[in-house]
Amino acid sequence: MPLEVVILAAGQGSRMKSDQPKVLHEIAGKPLVEHVIDAALQIEPGHIHIVYGHKGEHVRQKLSTIPAADRLTYSEQAEQLGTGHAVAQALPRLNEVADDASQVLILYGDVPLIAADTLRNFVAASAGKLGILTVTLDNSSGYGRILRNDSHEIIGIVEEKDASPAQKTIKEVNTGIMCCSLDRLNQWLPKLSSNNAQGEYYLTDIVALAVADGVPVGSGEAASAMEVEGVNNRLQLAALERQFQRKEADRLMTEGCTLADPARVDVRGSVRTGRDCFADINVVFEGNVVLGDRVSIGPNCVLRDCTIGADTEILAFSTVESSTVGSRAVIGPYARLRPGCELASDTKIGNFVEVKKSVIGEGSKVNHLSYVGDSEIGKGVNVGAGTITCNYDGVNKFKTVLGDNVFIGSNTALVAPVTVGANATVGAGSVITHDVEADSLAVARGKQKKIDGWKRPAKKKPNT
Ligand code: UD1
Ligand code: CA
Repeated sequence: MPLEVVILAAGQGSRMKSDQPKVLHEIAGKPLVEHVIDAALQIEPGHIHIVYGHKGEHVRQKLSTIPAADRLTYSEQAEQLGTGHAVAQALPRLNEVADDASQVLILYGDVPLIAADTLRNFVAASAGKLGILTVTLDNSSGYGRILRNDSHEIIGIVEEKDASPAQKTIKEVNTGIMCCSLDRLNQWLPKLSSNNAQGEYYLTDIVALAVADGVPVGSGEAASAMEVEGVNNRLQLAALERQFQRKEADRLMTEGCTLADPARVDVRGSVRTGRDCFADINVVFEGNVVLGDRVSIGPNCVLRDCTIGADTEILAFSTVESSTVGSRAVIGPYARLRPGCELASDTKIGNFVEVKKSVIGEGSKVNHLSYVGDSEIGKGVNVGAGTITCNYDGVNKFKTVLGDNVFIGSNTALVAPVTVGANATVGAGSVITHDVEADSLAVARGKQKKIDGWKRPAKKKPNT
């Protein structure tokens, strides 16, 4: 059966105390509403309808940049008159793109951890019915309570503010996630009234309308309370972030990565781990990260959009961004690989070394306190401590090329564009402005002078 998804995202979220719409606040580096969109995409709807309101232009602008942007369509809810009113704003678009028999799944943009599997089962179970996803909570206060008759059939939902003391004791609550056919929504939504404690058009009132029309009301249970928890303030945001991260940590461990402390690793993207990998405390993974077998990552490292070869060690306090590192390499401690680095196997990048947009060949080493940018370095090269590629004249970037087995003495400035031929040696402290021939030695520094009998200035003895 064709399926359409509506995501309610018009609420102001005043308890966030934020200039940003609530649904754009992030969990694991991704807006709340994008988590919901990603879950919805997995059950393959025709379209995803976003109902936006408060600061909606920000929501639209942000969502126009996500991978699934072309699957989204928008309806504005200029005034937030309730969840029923919000869904009604999407009806014209729904009727344009879908036929009456389509199922419509209603999700909340501020309930980010909903799982695709839960949605898939729920939608399947809701065919020919009005489906309500419920959850049973120890503390149900604040939620709409599920009313059932003696045969355990759902007959209504009563909001906290409209509930009697007896109804308030009910533990089964409405998660807000519902599913029914488009033609039923067309029938029921215009019948909602705002005659209730909050003066709002409650979507939940369609349950009583379904019962009156003899449409069966079915329910699905969420697998965990966390899945259907909403974000209303920054405390809840932080709590869901931790829950999300714990799940990611569990997944990494399940897939073969030992974590020094599962509570101190953060995944903001997707990580594929090899077997027997290790991540020490405070490692942050961002974007797409792929670890080969036995990769070891020291404490306080950030790995963003990178591929790390088998048996490579990333030592403490290192950052690797948009780069590829081969096998058996050693990076850090305190190394920074900026975007565009391709490091071959058995390379070494040591402490306080910054490398940018450079290719470094097998077995080459840049061990201490250097900057290597826009460079092509061959195999077996040794770049001495404190070497700097001067790749920038304030306007243009230039390339440095070092052939295989080159040896660069410490504290050398390589003024690009410059090429050092294979097996050449550069003496320490040189400023290299011309190409160096293969197999030669280049020394470009002031000559050492000798001044015999030189006396250092002496301090006068104090008068006693
Ligand atoms: C709603 C449900 C309640 C349920 C609870 C679960 C109704 C009447 N009540 O209550 O039964 O237990 O969610 O969290 O549906 N929204 C709009 N436009 C509006 C109003 C809300 O887009 O005019 C969006 C909000 O951004 C939010 C969602 O709808 O994503 C829920 O709104 P909220 O005000 O939080 O509903 P609750 O009162 O919590
Ligand atoms: Ca809410």
